[in-house]
Amino acid sequence: MSVSDWVRLALVDPSDQTRDSLRDALLGLDTLWLEAECARYEFFPDVVRQARPDIALVVMDSNPQAALSLIQQLSQEFPHMGILAASSRTDGPFILQTLRSGAKEFLTLPVALDELVAALQRVRQQLAPVENNGQPLAPSSQIIAVIGSRGGIGCTSIGINLGVALAQNPNHNVVFVDLDLALGDADVTLDLIPSYTLADVALSVERLDMTLLRRSLVRHSTGLSLLPHPVQLEDAAAIQEEQISRVLGLLRAAFTHVIVDLSKGYRPTDLAALRHADVILLVTQLELTALRNAVRLLLSLQSFEGLDQRVRVILNRVGADHQEITVKKAEETLGRPVFWQIPNDAKAMLASRNLGVPLLQHAPRSKVWQSIQDLAKALCGEPVPPEAAAVKKTRKGFSLFS
Ligand SMILES: Nc1ncnc2c1ncn2[C@@H]1O[C@H](COP(=O)(O)OP(=O)(O)OP(=O)(O)O)[C@@H](O)[C@H]1O
Ligand SMILES: [Mg+2]
Repeated sequence: MSVSDWVRLALVDPSDQTRDSLRDALLGLDTLWLEAECARYEFFPDVVRQARPDIALVVMDSNPQAALSLIQQLSQEFPHMGILAASSRTDGPFILQTLRSGAKEFLTLPVALDELVAALQRVRQQLAPVENNGQPLAPSSQIIAVIGSRGGIGCTSIGINLGVALAQNPNHNVVFVDLDLALGDADVTLDLIPSYTLADVALSVERLDMTLLRRSLVRHSTGLSLLPHPVQLEDAAAIQEEQISRVLGLLRAAFTHVIVDLSKGYRPTDLAALRHADVILLVTQLELTALRNAVRLLLSLQSFEGLDQRVRVILNRVGADHQEITVKKAEETLGRPVFWQIPNDAKAMLASRNLGVPLLQHAPRSKVWQSIQDLAKALCGEPVPPEAAAVKKTRKGFSLFS
């Protein structure tokens, strides 16, 4: 993440109690820099003049009238700064008055962390054109959903190794979320024994703070963090769509890349992840069932506004024996181009999966690892030679570039 992706915030709150808890919440956010803190409304304009934050957070409860005049003064003097107001008062006229005074968002205290994060993101988005010379800012984090057109198509293998590839860039902070709630195997793929799972996080999302969220993740030696699927099937069934949405919102604030491995059941929790996703990797193969299901999936995704455009088709195991369908034919059937081809490499992939060691460590020279690394670059908008996306047929067999 570059420095320009950070949001600089100044906080004013005369009450020590609420200020302390807000400070703790704010300090847990990786994308936010707490530039200044102030305990007196009357000193705050000076603090802002010096610190020049992107966002000012005004906690109003100690003296609502003074806070309202402060918001008005700040919005006039610093029209490009985002003002976020917070109060435990919930009456409509007061909220309206606060917004009319110049606040961009109103937060009701005590605030759940995901609501704070969402409000900060909305203010940031509103400020974006000013920050970026009229151009909207690229989102500071990317949620990548991985879906498959049948069981065993390669979603977990591709998702995990893509996560590892992304995590090799020191500016990245990557988490893999196993949303295959009942039968997921990302923990086995990485040979990790987690203490906490997605159930611990999702079922207590109202009380969650960033420290707790981070503690619930397990980190692999490659740098990839994992939020594993629940251990108990009852817990998997109890997790609701809304909770997944909230968890993803929080992870977006703490990580540059969130990879979500969906179940093949297309449950409401999977749909929640699809709605949050910036990119949807649809993994399929050059065979009839997989392609037919891919067409059905594409059709269903078209019924959700905006989802269809985020889909990138990934052809896995290209070059495997007995493939009679060509890439060209697959593209015609799907009605769209294949974004990436990943070569078949049973030796590297199978052993890597069985040993619980990602390709980076098990087969760093394999073509399949090269292909996934290039896919990671392409998803980050980095330059990759166009031929890297394809697997070429050679006289001896198949190769990545020849
Ligand atoms: N490019 C590849 N070349 C060879 N084998 C592969 C490749 N990709 C995946 N495999 C193998 O295919 C099998 C299934 O892969 P994986 O578990 O990743 O699929 P999945 O879609 O996550 O399955 P599930 O439906 O069980 O979640 C594994 O044994 C894996 O080693
Ligand atoms: Mg899987």
